[in-house]
Amino acid sequence: MIPAVDFSTPNRYATLPPPIGKRFAARATPAPQGEQVRAHDDRELLLRTIEPGDVAALQRCFTRLSPEEIRRRFLHAMSELPTPMAQRLCQIDPVRETAYTLIDESIQPAEIRGVGRIYVDEATDTAEFSVLVEHDWIRVGLGALLMQRLVDDCRRRGLYELWGYVLLENRPMLELCRELGFSRRMLPDEPGVALIALKL
Ligand SMILES: CC(C)(COP(=O)(O)OP(=O)(O)OC[C@H]1O[C@@H](n2cnc3c(N)ncnc32)[C@H](O)[C@@H]1OP(=O)(O)O)[C@@H](O)C(=O)NCCC(=O)NCCS
Repeated sequence: MIPAVDFSTPNRYATLPPPIGKRFAARATPAPQGEQVRAHDDRELLLRTIEPGDVAALQRCFTRLSPEEIRRRFLHAMSELPTPMAQRLCQIDPVRETAYTLIDESIQPAEIRGVGRIYVDEATDTAEFSVLVEHDWIRVGLGALLMQRLVDDCRRRGLYELWGYVLLENRPMLELCRELGFSRRMLPDEPGVALIALKL
């Protein structure tokens, strides 16, 4: 069953699939904390779950987003990522949430370049996703990598469906989801927003 629209879930304030095809699978190497992944342009990032110590990096990442990226990710305008919200996003409940970050360790302090998150709805055995990739890092496979990892995580959890709201103007995300096999449904009460879903 597809849950009713609820824009208040914590996931709305968060944000990457295994690779489309096999492009990342062949290139990921396990590391002690997370794994090193290589984007299509050969830049390397650390993929790991989010940690409480990521608050400042998440807030810095937010300041690098354009108003349009913020609106596409959170579905409304936001001028800042308040510390309590950033803390909430970095302190996940592993029973109900998974949040992967892509960490750029080539600079100090290390920076977050992408976040992919799910929030599980135990009542419906489904999970809502969100994903974000910083603009200097788009179109090199990271959005697909994060989304695929979220799909894998949902399958490990035995969930029935992964779903999310995407603005109809958000062609990159709609195209990414289409490539990953998600279906699209219009919402009569929410013009401009599509419900994207993948049966697992
Ligand atoms: C949407 C978003 C996550 C895509 O991330 P990305 O890292 O650029 O995606 P990828 O490089 O993995 O692209 C995967 C596929 O998506 C599609 N795609 C991505 N960007 C696209 C664009 N600008 N135009 C058309 N298709 C696009 C393509 O099919 C692409 O495959 P290809 O590169 O082999 O053609 C990123 O643009 C973003 O963070 N946007 C702002 C936040 C947002 O919209 N989040 C989604 C709401 S939850």
